Amino acid sequence: MPVNNENCSGLYLDLMKRCLTNTIYYEHECVSSAPWNIKVKRFFFQRLLAPLLRENNPEIMNRRHQDEDRRVSGKDWPPVAHTMIGLKRLDNIQYCVEQIIKNNVPGDLIETGVWRGGATIFMRAVLKAYAVSDRKVFVADSFAGLPRPDEVRYPQDKGVDLYKYKNLAVSLELVKQNFEKYGLLDEQVCFLKGWFKETLPNAPIEKLAVLRLDGDLYESTMDALKSLYHKLSTGGFLIVDDYGAVESCKAAVNDFRKERSIREEIIPIDWVGVYWQKAR
Ligand SMILES: C[S@@+](CC[C@H](N)C(=O)[O-])C[C@H]1O[C@@H](n2cnc3c(N)ncnc32)[C@H](O)[C@@H]1O
Repeated sequence: MPVNNENCSGLYLDLMKRCLTNTIYYEHECVSSAPWNIKVKRFFFQRLLAPLLRENNPEIMNRRHQDEDRRVSGKDWPPVAHTMIGLKRLDNIQYCVEQIIKNNVPGDLIETGVWRGGATIFMRAVLKAYAVSDRKVFVADSFAGLPRPDEVRYPQDKGVDLYKYKNLAVSLELVKQNFEKYGLLDEQVCFLKGWFKETLPNAPIEKLAVLRLDGDLYESTMDALKSLYHKLSTGGFLIVDDYGAVESCKAAVNDFRKERSIREEIIPIDWVGVYWQKAR
């Protein structure tokens, strides 16, 4: 049966997207990654002052709406939501997975760079919605944040200091718990823990139908492409989360395409994400 917004599976996937981005309880979100003194200030602001201001100052409400737009379009690092990729990029995952199911494109699904796991949780949810039990979702991450740039081998990563951000380091245990929260932690989900250069070349993956890259760096993007692109089936999808926003990621994709003479059209998803369908 086709899944659409009128039947249970379609409604389930729609609700999953709202939960994974926490757009559903957005107005109750508290920022929690700040030092305690800022947290205390925020507590007083959010609990005591903001409600008063909100009543008397509609501008505050407008600002909240603008922030919500940022969440919907995947422009912030959410304090509690399980993904930072926004609704359009989740829609794109749904589209790609639906296409490979409909067209019987062989292979599993992977995301390289999962943070709290949201995009991979959603991949598993789409398989569930279509009762697909013969495909796996691979969840690849250091589960310890980004590596320090190797500026000698990858000068394109020079100055990218994302490794300093502790809130990009989410443990394997926490990601498993997040899958569990949605009832989606099962034998169809496989975790690949470690740096991509170590885990991806010998990953127990035969074929892929969806390959999603979200590792930000030139090194992380190139390591994933070199280890996995040849496993992507014809008709399968390559998705790049950061192409429009992170220059080093874009450079890696462009270099790889040039090196392998990849000519498939790059299709934009939103302000940052792109994808293409492998034609041969
Ligand atoms: C921007 S976050 C991913 C966001 C996620 N896709 C989502 O749905 O919100 C980038 C992730 O890539 C991981 N990462 C980046 N480079 C890596 C590498 N070379 N090896 C392993 N993990 C890496 C980081 O640990 C981090 O979890």
